[in-house]
Amino acid sequence: MSKAPVHEQWQNRWIFILAATGSAVGLGNIWKFPYITGENGGGAFVLVYLLCVAGLGIPIMLAEVLLGARGRLSPVNSMRSAVAESKVSKAWVSIGWMGVLAGLMILCFYSVIAGWALDYVALTAIGTFNGATAVDAKNIFENMLASPGTLIFWHTVFMLMTMGVLLAGVTKGLGMVARVLMPILFVVMLIMLGYAMVTGEFMQAVSFMFSFNFSALTSKSILIALGHAFFTLSLGMGAIMAYGAYMHKDGKLGQTVLTIGFLDTLIALVAGLCIFPIVFAQGASPSSGPGLLFQSLPIAFGAMPGGLIFGTLFFVLVVIAAWSSAVSLIEPGVAWLIETKKFTRKQACLVLGMAVWAVGVLCALSFNVLGDFTPIWLFGKNIFDFLDFATSQLMLPIGGLLMALFVGWKLARPALAHEVGNLQTPAMKMWLFALRYISPVMVSIVLVVGLYNALLS
Ligand code: TRP
Repeated sequence: MSKAPVHEQWQNRWIFILAATGSAVGLGNIWKFPYITGENGGGAFVLVYLLCVAGLGIPIMLAEVLLGARGRLSPVNSMRSAVAESKVSKAWVSIGWMGVLAGLMILCFYSVIAGWALDYVALTAIGTFNGATAVDAKNIFENMLASPGTLIFWHTVFMLMTMGVLLAGVTKGLGMVARVLMPILFVVMLIMLGYAMVTGEFMQAVSFMFSFNFSALTSKSILIALGHAFFTLSLGMGAIMAYGAYMHKDGKLGQTVLTIGFLDTLIALVAGLCIFPIVFAQGASPSSGPGLLFQSLPIAFGAMPGGLIFGTLFFVLVVIAAWSSAVSLIEPGVAWLIETKKFTRKQACLVLGMAVWAVGVLCALSFNVLGDFTPIWLFGKNIFDFLDFATSQLMLPIGGLLMALFVGWKLARPALAHEVGNLQTPAMKMWLFALRYISPVMVSIVLVVGLYNALLS
C-alpha cells in the first residue's frame, strides 16, 4: 500500500542525513556537552555518554525514524496510521501529541539561549573581550541576563531566522540547512580545531576527555549522561520522526541512523577538543558550568592571537548549530496544522511562531523581572527552568520510552519488516532486544530518579 506523499521530500538520502544531523547537532553539543563533561570530571563521563548513545540513543532513533518513514506524515498522523495498521489502542497517538507540544516548549527557551550566542557574535566582533579579565566577562554575561531588552531583541532575531527557514518549506528551507549550513558548520569546526591545536593546551584537553578516571563518576553523572544522550540526538518528541517522513523509500534505515549518531557524537567530541585546549591555555577551570561557553571562552579568546576573528567565528558556529536544530523543533507542529487543519505553510508558521515567540519572551524575562515568579504549579521553578525541566527530564524520556515500547511490542510485524527488512539478522535481533528490554528499563530509572531528585530539591 503506497500513499501519495502530502509533503515535499528530501532530494536524496544524504540530504536527509545532513538535515537530521543538523537537528541533532546544536546547543546540546557545543554549549552543554563541554560544560557537563567539565562538571562531571571528564573521561569517565565521556565513556558513559558514548555507551548511552550506542545502547539507548541509536536503537530509539531507528524506532523513531521508522515510524516517520512508515507514516509519511506529521508525528501525530504517522502515529495514527501506525496505530490503525497495528490494531492497538488509540492512546498510543499521544506520543505524537506530546511530541508536538514538547517541541514547541523546548523552542521557547532554546531560542533565548541561541539569542545569547547571537549577542556574543556581536560583542566579540566589536572587540568587547580584548584584554578582558574574568571579572569583566562575568559582568558582561550578567548584564546581558539582566537586560530584558537585549534578551528579547536577540530572541526575536533568532525566531525570525527560524521561521524564515520553515516558511521556505522542506526542499528549499530545511534542505538548505542541510546543503549549506551543515558544510559551513563542518568547515568552521575544523578551523576551530586547528586553532585550538596550535594555540591551546591540546594534549591536556585530550587527556582530560579520554583518560577514564572512574573515581570522578557519580550516579548523578550517569543520569546526566543518559538524559543528554536523548537531548543531543533530538529524540523522543517526533523531530526525527517528522524528518523521517520526508524520506524516499530506499530503506537502509539502519545505516542512515548509525551515520547520524556517529556525526552527532563526533561533533560533540570535536567541540570539546576545540573548547578545553583554549580554556586550559588560560588556566581557567573546566568545571565552571553553563557559563563555560559564555564566560571562560571569551576571556580566553580576548587574550589570544587572532582571538577577535576566531572568537567571532566560534559564536557564529554556535548560532548555525542552534539554527539548524531549532527548525526541527517546530516542524512537527507545522506539518500537523498543514495536514489536519488545512493551513497553508505560511499560516501554520505564523501561528506557531508567534505563540513560541510570546512564551519565549516570558522565558527571557525569567532571568530578570520574572526571576521571582516561581509558583508551585511550575514546581517552584521559574518559567525558563520549568520548560527545560519538564521537557528534558520528563517529556523526552517518556516519549522515547513509549516509542521503544510501541515499536518493540506493538507495531504490526509486517509493517516493521517492510521498513527495516529481515528481522532475523543478528543486528536486528539485538536492536529489538534493546527496544523491548534495555531502553525501557534504563529510561524508567532515569525518570524515577529524576523526578525524585526534582521533588526533593
Ligand atoms: N539536539 C539538539 C541539540 O543538541 C536540540 C534539539 C533539536 C532537540 N530538536 C530536538 C532536542 C528534539 C530534543 C528533541 O541542541
